[in-house]
Amino acid sequence: MEKTIRFSVSISPDLLKKFDKEIKARAYTNRSRAVRDLIVNFIVEREWERSETEVMGSLTLLYDHETRGLLKKLIEIQHERHENIASTMHLHIDEHMCMEILALKGMPKEIRELADRLISCRGVKHGKLVMSTTGKEIT
Ligand code: NI
Repeated sequence: MEKTIRFSVSISPDLLKKFDKEIKARAYTNRSRAVRDLIVNFIVEREWERSETEVMGSLTLLYDHETRGLLKKLIEIQHERHENIASTMHLHIDEHMCMEILALKGMPKEIRELADRLISCRGVKHGKLVMSTTGKEIT
């Protein structure tokens, strides 16, 4: 295992209290692990934006499938950009709402642009791109 180092951070007691409350709610057993995960997320996102090699991402979309023209539009965009879509999963939440999860691969700029196009379709209630990595850089 790689050696770890200790470092100190200065923040207000109020902010630390809120942080501790949140990490407890997320089932973290210690602050170090929570801070480590925040740092990794930050590095992955920055490297992702700068990367000139292929990266991974996942896009979650929440939408009402009855919105006129929406399904056609979403399918058209996905077929047009099939090379960037590794897999999709569709869940019927209730009579109206659908959740779609897309595993994306490609250059960061392509993935960002594809995600933005899908998220901005009329009728998409919520959409979020999670930037990930092929994992080689993270220890
Ligand atoms: Ni559905």
